[in-house]
This record gives sequence, C-alpha cells and structure tokens, in this order.
Amino acid sequence: MLVRQAPDIRTADITDERHYVNRRAWLRTAVGGALATAAVAAVPGSPLVTPVSAQAALPNVKKSGYTVDEKWNSYEDITGYNNFYEFGTDKEDPARYAGKMTTRPWTVKIDGACAKPADYNIDDMLKWFPLEERVYRFRCVEAWSMVIPWVGFPLADLVKRVEPTGKAKYVQFTTLMRPTEMFGQRDPVLQWPYTEGLRLDEALHPLTLLAVGVYGKTLPNQNGAPLRLVVPWKYGFKSIKSIVRIRFTESQPATAWNQSNAREYGFYSNVNPEVDHPRWTQSRERRIGEFFRRKTLMFNGYDQVASLYAGMDLKKHY
Ligand code: MTE
Repeated sequence: MLVRQAPDIRTADITDERHYVNRRAWLRTAVGGALATAAVAAVPGSPLVTPVSAQAALPNVKKSGYTVDEKWNSYEDITGYNNFYEFGTDKEDPARYAGKMTTRPWTVKIDGACAKPADYNIDDMLKWFPLEERVYRFRCVEAWSMVIPWVGFPLADLVKRVEPTGKAKYVQFTTLMRPTEMFGQRDPVLQWPYTEGLRLDEALHPLTLLAVGVYGKTLPNQNGAPLRLVVPWKYGFKSIKSIVRIRFTESQPATAWNQSNAREYGFYSNVNPEVDHPRWTQSRERRIGEFFRRKTLMFNGYDQVASLYAGMDLKKHY
C-alpha cells in the first residue's frame, strides 16, 4: 500500500549542503588541511555517535581479498550520518535514537523454500562462519558515498547451509518490527517492517556480505546491529539493517522502497550512472569528506557482477 507519495529520500537531502555531510565531515572539508584534521581529532567523540571503544572488538577477523584500496571514511562519518528510518528520517536520528533497540536475544527466522528452516539464535549462527574484513565502496541512492571497512561473512555461506530447494529463486529479508523501541515505525513513511530482496544468484555472489561489524568492532545499532546486509554494487537501501527474517521465495518478493514508490526505486537498484533517479542525476556522487563530486561508476565499480545481468535491459530493470 502506498502510504505517502515519494516518502522521502527527500530532494532536500540531495541539494541542501547542510545535509550532504555531517558536521564534522563538513568542518574537515571546509577548513581543510592538517589543522582542521587535528582540531577534529582533538574533539572527543560526539555525544551523538557511539565511540569506537564502546563496541566489542571482534576476534579472529581475516583480511579479505574483496577489498578496495581507497581511503576509509572515518568512524564518525560511518556511525553518525545514517539512514535508518525506523529511528527518524534525519541523518543524525539513528545515532541519537537507535541505542534504544535491544539486540539480544536475537533470532533470525529462516524459512520458505529451503531444507533447513528454523529460528536461529544469532550467537549460534555467528559460530558457523569465520569473519572477514572487507573494505567496500558504499553508494547511497541520494548520491553520496563512503568507503567502509565492514566485518562479516558471505551471505552465500549461510544460504548454502540452509539448502534452498529448486523452488527458491529469490531471497527476502525483513527488519525487526518493534515500535516501542523504533519510534519511526509509528510514522507511515514506509510500509513496516522494512523489507528487501535479492535474486538467488545475487544472494550467492561472493561480494554479497552479511555484516556484523565495522572498524573491527561489533556494529553500532545505527548501522544495523546485530546483522545487516551489504550489497556493494547496489544502492544503499538494498543493504537492509537489523535482519530478523530471511525467506526463500519462488517469485520476486515485495521490498519496502519499491512498494512505496516503484517509479523511483526499482527491485534491482544497481548503481548505474546512465539511469537517473527521476528527481536527480546519478552520474556523479559526493564522497563524504570530499568537496568535489566524483563520477559514479557502473555497478559502483564492481564490474565482476556484470555477468549476472547479461542480456537484461538495465534501463528497464533499474
Ligand atoms: N534498513 C532499514 N531497516 N531501514 C532503513 O531505513 N536505510 C537504507 C539501508 N538499510 C534503511 C536500511 C539506506 S537508504 C541506506 S543508504 C543504508 O541503509 C545506510 O546504511 P548506513 O547507515 O550503515 O550507512
């Protein structure tokens, strides 16, 4: 059900300078140079942002080959400038309010077309897979981007373990629904709970990650604790946070942004500089912390996924 026209990833977020970087990133860019960096470094962690030390260190994390050699965004950028509409629509709302969300006990229901459906306790699940650090480009549909050192494991490892049947063609993901802790769910900006989906071959691609941490520590709530998806060649809204359900389906599942505005947010949502969003260009992006815009790359630079879409018209399947 469409609850509000273009429930917004808002135009203001694209055009208004105050919105495109958080205050610290803006300070660094505007003032520039070592002095500004030193001044920022000297300021203790913003009270709005979880300090890196507050999260538990993740042991035995291996470096992954699936890593880009680009400058990482700061922890403050990554944990202070977020989209998590369950906690409000402003970029600083998740850091401010997501602390209310309880992330233990946490169960992930796996069901639908698979041989081993069950309610899995996250702490059991985390013992199954070795963790890797993967530094990925992350491109939001709002035309900003970051470079983020995630910690996680390939979604493919989990998918294979629960043995999808021949009927499984897609995977649907669902976020926690708990309006007592997620006050944004009382506001119908999206159809709650937040859902997302992938084709099974996309879910099995080695780049598709289930993240449990960032910067070597567990995820802060605002980034989707305790478990979130990261699909680096797709717009950021595909990377659903705080997952409680993974369901294998035969037909293409409903997804929150597509339900709210199908013309603006397609099911595929591959990063594509040649297909503009109806309200703004996707050919360029602002890397948070940089002043000049850079060119957006097809598939966000992850060319190795191109074969998944061979023969498809990506202007039609945006
Ligand atoms: N997942 C849920 N449950 N709710 C959301 O509002 N926002 C999406 C995605 N996952 C969102 C979500 C969008 S629009 C983006 S850009 C990324 O989360 C932002 O991830 P980050 O805050 O870790 O950078």
